[in-house]
Amino acid sequence: MKELSLNILDVAQNSISAGATRLDLTLTEGESGWLTVVIADNGRGMSPEFLAKVTDPFTTTRTTRKVGMGLALYLLAAEQTGGTLRMESTPGQGTTVTATFDRKHLDCPPLGDLAGTVALLIQGSPELEVHYRHTTPRGEAELSTEELKAVLGDDISLAEPEIFTWIQTYLSEQEAQLEGAVQER
Ligand SMILES: Nc1ncnc2c1ncn2[C@@H]1O[C@H](COP(=O)(O)OP(=O)(O)OP(=O)(O)O)[C@@H](O)[C@H]1O
Ligand SMILES: [Mg+2]
Repeated sequence: MKELSLNILDVAQNSISAGATRLDLTLTEGESGWLTVVIADNGRGMSPEFLAKVTDPFTTTRTTRKVGMGLALYLLAAEQTGGTLRMESTPGQGTTVTATFDRKHLDCPPLGDLAGTVALLIQGSPELEVHYRHTTPRGEAELSTEELKAVLGDDISLAEPEIFTWIQTYLSEQEAQLEGAVQER
Protein backbone atom coordinates (compact mmCIF):
# COMPACT_ATOMS: atom_id res chain seq x y z
CA MET A 1 0.00 0.00 0.00
CA LYS A 2 1.17 3.50 -0.81
CA GLU A 3 0.39 5.01 2.57
CA LEU A 4 0.83 3.60 6.07
CA SER A 5 -2.49 5.09 7.16
CA LEU A 6 -4.22 2.69 4.75
CA ASN A 7 -2.41 -0.29 6.29
CA ILE A 8 -3.37 0.98 9.72
CA LEU A 9 -7.02 1.38 8.71
CA ASP A 10 -7.00 -2.18 7.43
CA VAL A 11 -5.54 -3.62 10.62
CA ALA A 12 -7.92 -1.55 12.76
CA GLN A 13 -10.84 -3.00 10.77
CA ASN A 14 -9.80 -6.41 12.12
CA SER A 15 -10.41 -5.13 15.65
CA ILE A 16 -13.91 -4.01 14.70
CA SER A 17 -14.59 -7.37 13.00
CA ALA A 18 -13.41 -9.04 16.22
CA GLY A 19 -16.18 -7.29 18.15
CA ALA A 20 -13.98 -4.80 19.99
CA THR A 21 -15.68 -2.03 21.97
CA ARG A 22 -12.40 -0.20 22.53
CA LEU A 23 -9.55 0.57 20.15
CA ASP A 24 -6.29 2.28 21.08
CA LEU A 25 -4.22 3.59 18.19
CA THR A 26 -0.87 4.93 19.33
CA LEU A 27 1.93 6.19 17.08
CA THR A 28 5.24 7.11 18.67
CA GLU A 29 8.14 8.64 16.74
CA GLY A 30 11.60 9.12 18.14
CA GLU A 31 14.41 11.45 17.13
CA SER A 32 16.04 8.54 15.28
CA GLY A 33 13.24 8.36 12.69
CA TRP A 34 11.82 5.12 14.09
CA LEU A 35 8.05 4.95 14.30
CA THR A 36 6.18 2.49 16.52
CA VAL A 37 2.51 1.88 15.77
CA VAL A 38 0.44 0.06 18.40
CA ILE A 39 -3.11 -1.03 17.56
CA ALA A 40 -4.76 -2.55 20.64
CA ASP A 41 -8.30 -3.85 21.01
CA ASN A 42 -10.49 -5.67 23.49
CA GLY A 43 -12.06 -7.94 20.86
CA ARG A 44 -12.40 -11.70 20.86
CA GLY A 45 -8.70 -12.39 20.43
CA MET A 46 -7.01 -15.36 18.79
CA SER A 47 -5.79 -18.73 19.96
CA PRO A 48 -2.00 -19.21 20.15
CA GLU A 49 -2.18 -21.67 17.22
CA PHE A 50 -4.06 -19.21 15.02
CA LEU A 51 -1.82 -16.32 16.08
CA ALA A 52 1.29 -18.26 15.06
CA LYS A 53 0.15 -18.41 11.42
CA VAL A 54 -1.89 -15.23 11.17
CA THR A 55 0.54 -13.19 9.06
CA ASP A 56 0.42 -15.93 6.44
CA PRO A 57 -1.72 -14.52 3.57
CA PHE A 58 -3.65 -17.80 3.38
CA THR A 59 -4.96 -17.48 6.92
CA THR A 60 -8.39 -15.91 7.20
CA THR A 61 -11.79 -16.48 8.77
CA ARG A 62 -13.49 -14.34 6.16
CA THR A 63 -15.93 -16.12 3.88
CA THR A 64 -16.08 -13.76 0.92
CA ARG A 65 -12.65 -14.73 -0.37
CA LYS A 66 -10.01 -17.20 0.67
CA VAL A 67 -7.02 -14.96 1.23
CA GLY A 68 -6.65 -12.51 4.12
CA MET A 69 -4.09 -9.86 3.24
CA GLY A 70 -4.27 -7.18 5.89
CA LEU A 71 -1.67 -8.45 8.33
CA ALA A 72 0.55 -9.97 5.64
CA LEU A 73 0.78 -6.60 3.89
CA TYR A 74 1.36 -4.79 7.17
CA LEU A 75 4.20 -7.20 8.04
CA LEU A 76 5.70 -6.64 4.59
CA ALA A 77 5.48 -2.85 4.96
CA ALA A 78 7.29 -2.98 8.32
CA GLU A 79 9.94 -5.45 7.17
CA GLN A 80 10.69 -3.47 4.00
CA THR A 81 11.96 -0.67 6.24
CA GLY A 82 13.96 -3.06 8.45
CA GLY A 83 11.21 -2.98 11.07
CA THR A 84 9.22 -5.69 12.80
CA LEU A 85 5.66 -6.80 13.52
CA ARG A 86 4.70 -8.33 16.85
CA MET A 87 1.27 -9.60 17.84
CA GLU A 88 -0.05 -10.50 21.24
CA SER A 89 -3.51 -11.92 21.69
CA THR A 90 -5.58 -13.52 24.42
CA PRO A 91 -8.84 -15.26 23.54
CA GLY A 92 -11.75 -13.39 25.07
CA GLN A 93 -9.58 -10.43 26.05
CA GLY A 94 -8.09 -8.76 23.01
CA THR A 95 -5.24 -8.27 20.63
CA THR A 96 -2.30 -5.90 20.39
CA VAL A 97 -0.44 -5.43 17.11
CA THR A 98 2.86 -3.57 17.37
CA ALA A 99 4.77 -2.59 14.23
CA THR A 100 7.97 -0.61 13.84
CA PHE A 101 9.00 1.39 10.78
CA ASP A 102 12.18 3.24 9.93
CA ARG A 103 10.78 6.44 8.43
CA LYS A 104 14.23 7.34 7.10
CA HIS A 105 14.33 4.15 5.04
CA LEU A 106 13.79 4.69 1.29
CA ASP A 107 11.09 2.01 1.23
CA CYS A 108 9.05 3.51 4.05
CA PRO A 109 5.71 4.70 2.67
CA PRO A 110 4.47 8.16 3.74
CA LEU A 111 2.17 8.21 6.75
CA GLY A 112 -0.71 9.41 4.60
CA ASP A 113 -3.95 10.86 5.90
CA LEU A 114 -4.01 9.81 9.55
CA ALA A 115 -6.68 12.39 10.38
CA GLY A 116 -8.98 10.99 7.70
CA THR A 117 -8.25 7.45 8.84
CA VAL A 118 -9.25 8.21 12.42
CA ALA A 119 -12.33 10.15 11.28
CA LEU A 120 -13.38 7.23 9.07
CA LEU A 121 -12.90 4.68 11.84
CA ILE A 122 -15.03 6.70 14.23
CA GLN A 123 -17.74 7.41 11.66
CA GLY A 124 -17.92 3.75 10.65
CA SER A 125 -18.20 2.52 14.25
CA PRO A 126 -19.76 5.36 16.25
CA GLU A 127 -20.23 3.17 19.33
CA LEU A 128 -16.55 2.17 19.42
CA GLU A 129 -14.42 3.84 22.08
CA VAL A 130 -11.39 5.13 20.16
CA HIS A 131 -8.25 6.56 21.71
CA TYR A 132 -5.81 8.05 19.21
CA ARG A 133 -2.43 9.50 20.05
CA HIS A 134 0.48 10.44 17.76
CA THR A 135 3.57 11.51 19.65
CA THR A 136 6.65 12.94 17.96
CA PRO A 137 9.66 14.99 19.12
CA ARG A 138 7.86 18.02 17.57
CA GLY A 139 4.66 17.59 19.54
CA GLU A 140 1.54 15.51 19.75
CA ALA A 141 -1.81 14.92 18.04
CA GLU A 142 -4.50 13.39 20.21
CA LEU A 143 -8.21 12.59 20.16
CA SER A 144 -10.55 10.29 22.05
CA THR A 145 -14.21 9.57 21.47
CA GLU A 146 -14.72 9.82 25.23
CA GLU A 147 -13.62 13.47 25.17
CA LEU A 148 -15.78 14.09 22.10
CA LYS A 149 -18.84 12.62 23.77
CA ALA A 150 -18.21 14.63 26.91
CA VAL A 151 -18.28 17.82 24.81
CA LEU A 152 -21.08 16.85 22.42
CA GLY A 153 -23.39 15.10 24.86
CA ASP A 154 -25.05 11.72 24.35
CA ASP A 155 -27.71 12.91 21.89
CA ILE A 156 -25.48 13.38 18.85
CA SER A 157 -24.12 10.35 16.99
CA LEU A 158 -20.45 10.23 16.04
CA ALA A 159 -21.64 8.93 12.65
CA GLU A 160 -22.96 12.40 11.72
CA PRO A 161 -21.18 13.86 8.64
CA GLU A 162 -20.51 17.10 10.53
CA ILE A 163 -18.62 15.17 13.20
CA PHE A 164 -16.55 13.40 10.55
CA THR A 165 -15.56 16.75 9.06
CA TRP A 166 -14.85 18.23 12.46
CA ILE A 167 -12.58 15.31 13.50
CA GLN A 168 -10.73 15.36 10.20
CA THR A 169 -10.14 19.11 10.33
CA TYR A 170 -9.17 19.09 13.99
CA LEU A 171 -6.65 16.27 13.61
CA SER A 172 -5.31 17.46 10.21
CA GLU A 173 -4.31 20.74 11.81
CA GLN A 174 -2.47 18.93 14.59
CA GLU A 175 -0.83 16.46 12.18
CA ALA A 176 0.23 19.23 9.78
CA GLN A 177 2.18 20.90 12.57
CA LEU A 178 4.01 17.65 13.36
CA GLU A 179 4.96 17.06 9.70
CA GLY A 180 5.65 20.72 8.94
CA ALA A 181 8.25 20.90 11.67
CA VAL A 182 10.00 17.86 10.21
CA GLN A 183 10.56 19.55 6.82
CA GLU A 184 12.00 22.68 8.40
CA ARG A 185 14.87 20.78 9.96
N1 LIG B 1 -7.52 -7.87 16.18
C1 LIG B 1 -7.93 -9.12 15.87
N2 LIG B 1 -8.72 -9.81 16.72
C2 LIG B 1 -9.14 -11.07 16.43
N3 LIG B 1 -8.81 -11.73 15.30
C3 LIG B 1 -8.03 -11.09 14.41
C4 LIG B 1 -7.54 -9.77 14.64
N4 LIG B 1 -6.78 -9.41 13.60
C5 LIG B 1 -6.79 -10.44 12.75
N5 LIG B 1 -7.54 -11.46 13.22
C6 LIG B 1 -7.78 -12.76 12.56
O1 LIG B 1 -6.75 -12.95 11.61
C7 LIG B 1 -7.28 -13.14 10.30
C8 LIG B 1 -6.36 -12.55 9.27
O2 LIG B 1 -6.41 -11.11 9.32
P1 LIG B 1 -6.00 -10.28 8.03
O3 LIG B 1 -6.30 -8.85 8.28
O4 LIG B 1 -4.63 -10.63 7.64
O5 LIG B 1 -6.96 -10.83 6.92
P2 LIG B 1 -8.55 -10.66 6.84
O6 LIG B 1 -9.02 -9.57 7.75
O7 LIG B 1 -9.14 -12.02 7.01
O8 LIG B 1 -8.75 -10.20 5.34
P3 LIG B 1 -8.47 -8.72 4.76
O9 LIG B 1 -7.70 -7.96 5.79
O10 LIG B 1 -7.70 -8.95 3.51
O11 LIG B 1 -9.82 -8.14 4.54
C9 LIG B 1 -8.68 -12.52 10.35
O12 LIG B 1 -9.55 -13.15 9.42
C10 LIG B 1 -9.10 -12.79 11.80
O13 LIG B 1 -9.65 -14.08 11.94
MG1 LIG C 1 -8.05 -7.67 7.84
